[in-house]
Amino acid sequence: RLLATAGTAGAAGLAVGAGGGLGAHALAAAPAATALTSLGADSVPFYGAHQVGIVQPMQARLVATAFDLTPGTARPGLVSLMKRWSAAAAALAEGRTPPGLADDDVALDAGPSSLTVTFGFGASVFPKISATAPAALAPLPAFPEDALDRSRSDGDLWVQVCADDALVAHHAMRTLQRLAAGAATVRWQMSGFSRSPGATAQPHTGRNLMGQIDGTNNPKPTDSTFDARIFVPAKGDPAWMAGGSYAVFRRIRMLLDSWDQQSTDRQERVIGRRKGSGAPLSGGTETTAVDLDKQNADGSLAIPGDAHIRVATPDANQGAAMLRRGYSYHDGFRSDGAPDAGLLFTAFQADPLTGFVPVQRKLARGDALSVFIRHESSGLYAVPGGVPAGGGYVGQALLE
Ligand code: HEM
Repeated sequence: RLLATAGTAGAAGLAVGAGGGLGAHALAAAPAATALTSLGADSVPFYGAHQVGIVQPMQARLVATAFDLTPGTARPGLVSLMKRWSAAAAALAEGRTPPGLADDDVALDAGPSSLTVTFGFGASVFPKISATAPAALAPLPAFPEDALDRSRSDGDLWVQVCADDALVAHHAMRTLQRLAAGAATVRWQMSGFSRSPGATAQPHTGRNLMGQIDGTNNPKPTDSTFDARIFVPAKGDPAWMAGGSYAVFRRIRMLLDSWDQQSTDRQERVIGRRKGSGAPLSGGTETTAVDLDKQNADGSLAIPGDAHIRVATPDANQGAAMLRRGYSYHDGFRSDGAPDAGLLFTAFQADPLTGFVPVQRKLARGDALSVFIRHESSGLYAVPGGVPAGGGYVGQALLE
């Protein structure tokens, strides 16, 4: 496999770009090891205190898949699967082909492209391995307006693959699915996309399919409260979840036909932020702190009472916070002609009962956004801590 390095990339990229007249044919004939950017060579080490794919900046592509254990697969089968999957994820993250499998060559000439693979356990796997599910995996309550398709919800195992290249992401997921043969089968799979690095002049928060800048007020790894909000503490309960997190995954369709009929002013009041800049309606720029008390000249609230950011803010939810890492999806059009498009909402938190649940309870009761979205699938997964360098596998503390 050819791996580009940042050193070669800069000069070559500039030369080709500045040349202007080089067509695809000339590019194809360029020296094989020359890449236009370092994007393919970038890598995220698999080993560490936490699993990857949580705090890293979002990559351009997501493939999320849920698996169910095959009938008869019990704890030894799951141990063996998690060993194979962890070794494969570590190899793929370095741009290597996993051992013990004839590669399908799909990602042969690409680097790891910042590939991350994140594994989670759904509540349904625990009885199959004679273990007790953590209390935090209690089923999410039914929220008003939920329209969940159970066949595309839940699952024993959840695998989140992210990378800056679609072929790399799909190759990784296919490799993991092949390695699961005999132990687990696919329950559902969904693909999502975000902005490609380099697509905008300055790196800034991505946009969703409603056109909003989405992700601004996420907790930041530099916040003093970040670890406590996102990760299970070292002495947490159960002990095997130390350093882990809980992932809530919701496929949320956007009712884009009615959204697109709203004026920009109305759209901005639904969220509480400017569409173009992402600035709060209380003023400033995207990163200016939100002022929920600010009033317009006529005495009305600058950020309306039912604006999404007012209802969802940790300040109104006993500090409830989550790290949102959502990707857009667009899977064609439904039989009614509406886009089958929206957000593959993924949120990581130390405890969903104090993170996602109270916030979604309030949002579903009637934030201004609710009438423009429909939650169509749902999953909740325990994402164990990371694997220390030098060996081991995800879930080892639970399974051994
Ligand atoms: C903020 C969009 C669903 C929780 C935001 C923002 C946008 C947005 C544009 C403002 C920028 C930002 O801070 O990221 C959406 C869309 C959704 C959706 C389009 C569905 C399709 C949800 C759900 C939850 C949620 C289901 C949790 C249950 C939050 C939180 C904030 C936020 C906590 C930050 C509020 C703050 O502290 O300022 N969302 N959201 N969102 N959203 Fe959503």
